[in-house]
This record gives sequence, structure tokens and C-alpha cells, in this order.
Amino acid sequence: MSSRVVVCSGCCCGNIEKGHSEVPVDYLKKSWEENNLGSRVELMISGCLGPCKMNNVSVLVTESDMIWLGDLGEEEHYESLVEWGKEVARNDQSEKLPEILSKKRFEPMNVKEEIINSITINQKVKQD
Ligand code: FES
Repeated sequence: MSSRVVVCSGCCCGNIEKGHSEVPVDYLKKSWEENNLGSRVELMISGCLGPCKMNNVSVLVTESDMIWLGDLGEEEHYESLVEWGKEVARNDQSEKLPEILSKKRFEPMNVKEEIINSITINQKVKQD
């Protein structure tokens, strides 16, 4: 496993009662299964990652990088996560970020070390 897509579905991300867009967890799981991505790129649905203000948050994790994305509210954003996963699975390496996602990139502040450790590649993680 060389890469992981972490999608936050915690206290804020995806919480429509707080006015945030729903996180399409079923769509993502189905897409991962249909494209047989699981053995190459892990999909991890996580609890709160910390930067709730940037909802909805996802992180693209590779062996050398951690790309934080926020404000993912459109279907196209999640479709692009799937496309990124497919490209990485096909080429067995990190692919260039699609433009629609590169606009959503941010550098998180003060993320707890235990969170970073839990999403870093080669760490044992609890999955949804
Ligand atoms: S709920 Fe997603 S970052 Fe906090």
C-alpha cells in the first residue's frame, strides 16, 4: 500500500445540521470497490482530523507527502478523489493533483501528532 485517501466524516465535515455538505461515504466506498482500488490505494473514512473550519476535509497521503484538502462540497470534488485514486493505483505512484482539487489545498495548523500518525502510511490504523 503506497497511498491512502483519508476522508473526514467527523463532527463537522459532512454534518448537514451544521450547514455543511454531506460527505458521500457510500459513493466513495462503492467507487473504491467497483474500481478494485483497495489493494493499491486505501480509502479511510475518518473521525475528526482537527481543522474543522476547513470542512469538508480530506487528505491524500503518499509515502512522501500529505496533501490536505478543504471545502470539498461538490460531487466533482469527490469524483476527483476517485480519479486520483485510480491514477495512483494504475501507475503505482503519486499523480499530479487535478486542478479542481489543487484549488482546495491548504496547510493545516496545529494538527495533533496522534492524528498525523494515524493517517501516515505504514501505520496501523482503525478503519471505518
Ligand atoms: S470534523 Fe472533519 S476536520 Fe473536524
